[in-house]
Amino acid sequence: MPEITIRPLAPDDAMPYDLLLLADPSRELVDSYLADAAVFLAETGDRIVGVLVLSPLTDALVEVKNVAVEPALQGQGIGRALIQHAIGIAGRKGFKTICIGTANSSIGQLHLYQKLGFEVSRIKEDFFIRNYPEPIYENGIQARHMIVLAKPL
Ligand code: ACO
Repeated sequence: MPEITIRPLAPDDAMPYDLLLLADPSRELVDSYLADAAVFLAETGDRIVGVLVLSPLTDALVEVKNVAVEPALQGQGIGRALIQHAIGIAGRKGFKTICIGTANSSIGQLHLYQKLGFEVSRIKEDFFIRNYPEPIYENGIQARHMIVLAKPL
């Protein structure tokens, strides 16, 4: 894996929409959760290569709203490092559970999150049909439902 550092977004950093929209193609939805979220950047040198967005849902529950890695650097462990960072921060801040939602079609993401100890907790039926104007296909499967996975901290 390339050497990376993970740090909070600083006030003079541009919001990395190119990365955020990789994980969530709706700019409207992204903007709706950025307002009260903590954003972290993964950097190699001075290049931003990944993003992580954490949003508290209750005093006990925090959600990874968005995680993305620059396409050319995917598959080298940066996504795993970002999720592990989220788990560490959430635990230190006293949350009891961390959750993450992804599509039924997001096979690689479901693999990654379960390997990191998340378990399927519920399904938001037809989430991607209701919230996105265009059909989304991944791995030859239509994204219809959101699978929510949770991990106790
Ligand atoms: N297919 C199969 N396995 C995959 C895939 C995939 N598409 N992506 C990751 N994995 C597996 C890897 O094989 C690896 O497993 P291993 O430990 O058994 O070898 C594990 O997941 C970790 O892989 P990383 O290299 O850490 O993953 P990466 O750096 O590519 O980051 C991420 C994963 C964030 C999903 C990245 O691929 C990405 O940015 N994708 C596009 C955006 C996206 O889909 N984001 C998540 C949407 S859900 C949300 O944001 C809440």
